Amino acid sequence: MRILGIETSCDDTSVALYDSERGVAENLVSSQVDLHDHFGGVVPELASRAHLVNLLPLVDYLLERQQLKLRDLDGVAVTAGPGLIGALLVGLSTGKALCAAAGLPLVGVHHIEGHILANALTADMVLPAVVLVVSGGHTEVVFMPEVGRYELMGGTLDDAAGEAFDKTAKLLGLPYPGGPHIDRMARRGRPGQFDFPRPLHKDPRIVFSFSGLKTAVRVVVDELPRPLDEQTVADVSYEVQEAIVDSLCQRLFQAARRKHVPAVYLAGGVSANGRLRERVAAEAQKRNLHFLPPEPVYCTDNAAMIAYAGWCHFAAGRADGLDLDSFPRQPLTSWR
Ligand code: KG4
Ligand code: ZN
Repeated sequence: MRILGIETSCDDTSVALYDSERGVAENLVSSQVDLHDHFGGVVPELASRAHLVNLLPLVDYLLERQQLKLRDLDGVAVTAGPGLIGALLVGLSTGKALCAAAGLPLVGVHHIEGHILANALTADMVLPAVVLVVSGGHTEVVFMPEVGRYELMGGTLDDAAGEAFDKTAKLLGLPYPGGPHIDRMARRGRPGQFDFPRPLHKDPRIVFSFSGLKTAVRVVVDELPRPLDEQTVADVSYEVQEAIVDSLCQRLFQAARRKHVPAVYLAGGVSANGRLRERVAAEAQKRNLHFLPPEPVYCTDNAAMIAYAGWCHFAAGRADGLDLDSFPRQPLTSWR
């Protein structure tokens, strides 16, 4: 089965081809980082317009590279939500048009399911598992007994982990999106130069809170002499990252203990973070839990994860009609 994946939920236009015989045959991502950098965050209207300009040429390019015609495909999988509504609509309308033109089946994929199943692109997933979903818009702990069944165990009360990285990076004068820059700067940071809070540390629930971190960083940064020197930015980055990673690790392993699972996974853009991957690997080993991080290209938004998730739906006999709607918000629910 050859499935075309389309992902346009935020600021990356991505198309991919998943071939059930060969795996991911193509995964093309057109980034809009330069377009939004100037504004310090994603401007929804600009994102929609850029998707509109980039998406069909990307599909054509993919088919040309693979020497395929539309009718050689077996289905189209498209991110239906959550995300920026205008951006989602560009992907969904395009997916529908391709299906209508070539008589292909369509399936809508929940963006978070895509991120979770990105783990299966590296190796077969060990299930049941507990998955920590950490992206720009989500921070959730999900119990996954099998593909298609998801139980939300808890999440953030305010900001997502990615937002915490991005907002604190902005305070430090680092470019957008800030996560990868904090990750890079923190490698040169010295431990113990600053002290940031770990809110809700004693709370027995699976909960996160990151909005206080931004305030704490602002208070510290406001007191620092300007311009900020590189070593100071590195030192703050180090402790910001430690605070975020501490909270994430604590809840992930608390949830794993509660569900007695043999495996834990990471999903979403923040799972590209070097320190998070290192800490989860070390803690998983201590507890005898299976853990393999997703490949970096499949951590941040990409259509390969959507194409693969779509294939899982099609293989289970699920498809959507051309009346499928996109949704800006909606929790991940089970379909099996
Ligand atoms: O999953 P994603 O690509 O888009 C959403 O669905 O939100 O996640 C984007 C988020 C951004 O907040 C970005 O700063 C963060 O992932 N991110 C990172 C790293 N790479 C991306 N955060 C920390 N360390 C990284 N290496
Ligand atoms: Zn994402």
